[in-house]
Amino acid sequence: MTLERELDALARRFSPEARVTVLTGAGVSAASGVPTFRGPDGLWKDFRPEELATPEAFARDPKTVWEWYDWRRQLVAQCRPNRAHDVLALWSRRYPSFALVTQNVDGLHERAGTENVVRFHGSLWEVSCWSQCRAGSWLDMTVPFPRLPPSCPHCGGPLRPGVVWFGEAIPEEALEATGRALDCDLCLVVGTSSVVYPAAGLSAQARRRGAFTVEINPEATPASTEMDLALPGRAEDILNSLERLL
Ligand code: OAD
Repeated sequence: MTLERELDALARRFSPEARVTVLTGAGVSAASGVPTFRGPDGLWKDFRPEELATPEAFARDPKTVWEWYDWRRQLVAQCRPNRAHDVLALWSRRYPSFALVTQNVDGLHERAGTENVVRFHGSLWEVSCWSQCRAGSWLDMTVPFPRLPPSCPHCGGPLRPGVVWFGEAIPEEALEATGRALDCDLCLVVGTSSVVYPAAGLSAQARRRGAFTVEINPEATPASTEMDLALPGRAEDILNSLERLL
């Protein structure tokens, strides 16, 4: 089938009462100028994300880890949501049980006005005390931080970014919201390499519960063959074409 026919057939599944869940990854923000993690511009100073995004890396060298996050915060602060974010924001207001589960920590879905966003890997814009003093976690939009690592206003220890690192648990609240979101009619998996678990296993769970699963990605991923439909292409193009058919 041609892409056009596949899109037509997919559009017919978007009935007004369809329960739509979308799982997103870094590819959705690529057109906004945010480098993906595993793409050609993803490496920062020759570090792979798995080397920096861990509690062990932070314990060993908080300054270097923060330099990476501070760089990403500066970069994202200058970016704007793209057509892919905008279409998903529209859907979030149109479909009654819409949910968007994102691995992205850049906050661009929220800035596009998307409702019901579940942040599976936390947020680049939240910070908390590394020593887990009573300060809790809060929003801090300072860009760039004058000193790295920034210090906790309560105990003076280092702050940490509010993201989920490799080896850390997904926040309970996000897991519960995701569990509910996987009971859906349509599950779109957009712009993720589907290699980082547990996020990479979510579409298979939705499919087992009866959802029609669709991948949107210019490249094949380990999840592609498990999908009901894999649409090769960029999120901003495919979502735009789909929206025109709805
Ligand atoms: P990756 O960098 O692993 O994958 C990005 C995916 O986006 C790739 O499969 C690309 O083919 C695809 N892509 C690129 N441009 C695209 C476009 N315009 N439209 C659609 N897709 C496009 O990013 P994630 O899968 O999000 O976790 O990475 C998962 C997790 O690994 C991240 O949340 C982060 C990272 O390390 C933590 O930090 C814990």
